[in-house]
Amino acid sequence: MTRTPLYEGKAKILFEGPEAGLIIQYFKDDATAYNAQKKDSISQKGVLNNLISAHLLPALGAIGIPHHFVERLNLREQLVKQVEIVPIEVIVRNVAAGSICSRLGLTEGEALPAPLIEFCLKDDALGDPVVAREHITVLGYADDDELDEIVYLTEKINDFLTGLFFAIGVRLIDFKLEFGRLESEDGYEIILADEISPDNCRLWDSQTNEKMDKDRFRRDLGGLVEAYSEIAKRLGLNIEFEANS
Ligand code: TMP
Repeated sequence: MTRTPLYEGKAKILFEGPEAGLIIQYFKDDATAYNAQKKDSISQKGVLNNLISAHLLPALGAIGIPHHFVERLNLREQLVKQVEIVPIEVIVRNVAAGSICSRLGLTEGEALPAPLIEFCLKDDALGDPVVAREHITVLGYADDDELDEIVYLTEKINDFLTGLFFAIGVRLIDFKLEFGRLESEDGYEIILADEISPDNCRLWDSQTNEKMDKDRFRRDLGGLVEAYSEIAKRLGLNIEFEANS
């Protein structure tokens, strides 16, 4: 079957969907870090991210979070609603790790006094810089009402996912979300429009603090597929790998 590709990103390809308003997301095995300065392909990573994300988004839907996920089509693909992406990455941090440590001199593993929400402009050429709420509203990336809704949804998502991971012996250290504008009868609605997987979350084992996320690739720790598989297993998911991947 020939399909029309709409966009190829670092870890996913978007194809035209079966009807207007729907698109197909294909999860690649490609891994990139440090604004694509480090690159590799890790066999089955895309399969695991597709599986994990297809479990977490409906779980969020069940507590009233609007999202783009429609259904998992096969090992590598899912059907999602087409949205206009808000060009902001929303990062939630419960514990200091990653870029905030070098930026603000924090120690990795330090619990933050309260969950911290940061915004980054989605712009690879600029290295996705951290921006303030005022940059977003004054420069027109999103308006105040949209940002209020994004922050409200993000806080709810963090509360829910923190508990969900706690129950399977995993600490949700931080994660990144993206939101989109979905056309509706009376205007449009802000919805979650991103995968949620160990590619865009930091997940540490509760007992050992072992990293079970993409830091295994970023920091050359090895064992990425094993770690993502362990997350899927603890979530109770049935892991099926692609032949000859
Ligand atoms: P950071 O510590 O590198 O800023 O990342 C914070 C969290 O956001 C971490 O879980 C990784 C995730 N993230 C992405 O998924 N995509 C990105 O482009 C960036 C910068 C971070």
